[in-house]
Amino acid sequence: MIVLGLESSCDETGAGLVSVKERRVLANVIASQHAIHVQYGGVVPELASREHLVNLKPVVDAALAQAGLTLAQVDGIAVTAGPGLAGCLHLGLSAAKALALGAGLPWVGVNHLEGHLLAAQLEHPDLEFPYLALVVSGGHTSLLEVAGPFERRRIDATLDDAAGEAFDKVAKLLELGFPGGPAVDALAGGHAGAGVSFPQASPKNGGPGFSYSGLKTAVRTHVEQARRRGQEPDKAAVAAGFQRAAIEPLVRKAVESALALGLGTVVAGGGVAANRLLRVELGRACAAAGLACRLSSPALCADNGAMIAYAGGLRLLAGQRSPWALGIHPSLDECGTPC
Ligand code: KG4
Ligand code: ZN
Repeated sequence: MIVLGLESSCDETGAGLVSVKERRVLANVIASQHAIHVQYGGVVPELASREHLVNLKPVVDAALAQAGLTLAQVDGIAVTAGPGLAGCLHLGLSAAKALALGAGLPWVGVNHLEGHLLAAQLEHPDLEFPYLALVVSGGHTSLLEVAGPFERRRIDATLDDAAGEAFDKVAKLLELGFPGGPAVDALAGGHAGAGVSFPQASPKNGGPGFSYSGLKTAVRTHVEQARRRGQEPDKAAVAAGFQRAAIEPLVRKAVESALALGLGTVVAGGGVAANRLLRVELGRACAAAGLACRLSSPALCADNGAMIAYAGGLRLLAGQRSPWALGIHPSLDECGTPC
């Protein structure tokens, strides 16, 4: 079964084509809007929606061309129905419905986070359920027990901000541009030592969950104090120290949870899973604990249409269909299904 997946929940317009049973990506095309949002230091929802309107048709055409297919050779359509920015989701959902109606194809609305936590299967044919998934994106930071394609349970989550949001805020503070994650990653990677010491992204009482607000405040205080003294902070040392404090609790709790639940494999998905320190440290910690670690390539960690095609494809294969009346679900949680 070949499925076309559309992704437009935030600032990337993605179209992917996947051969679902074979777990094979046939095409994955992304139109990034970074050049537009960089001047505002963050995603401007209205501008993002307008760009999706412009980009959706060209990315679908480009994905079909990349795979050497026509729409007549596609068996179904999957589209992100939530969570995400309302206007952006509307554009993708409307495009998917139009394509499905025009081509007479079955279609299904997909939870964007389901795409992130299943994407690793596309590059790891041996990855079977159950596994522990760390989902780290611009809006979510959670650990989930993934028992099957449609079956999962939240084990832990952030108590305040998402990891990716913290990377973006710190990058803005250090004037590194947008999106912040890759910029912080690059700058920290070039720093020789451990960097400035900041409190870890964990709740103060040592309880469950993650917490990024204290870490963000500590970085802001450090930077502002330096600037008040008329100095520019050592940006690479700040980036390295922040990144370490942001990543260490994710790695530690992912491994602890997998061991506690008797799960032999850890998977990471979402934009922050492209972070080099996270990838190295998670791999190392899993190996030390006797766990398998399965990471997607950075292109499949970030928002993309292929992961939506795959997640929706599994639902279409199981006979699931969305009603034409399906609307957007901007606040859908990790375990929800758009209906
Ligand atoms: O999954 P994603 O592409 O979009 C959402 O669903 O939110 O994640 C985007 C987030 C942004 O906050 C971005 O700064 C962060 O992922 N990110 C990174 C890296 N690449 C992207 N954070 C840390 N290191 C990276 N290399
Ligand atoms: Zn995402």
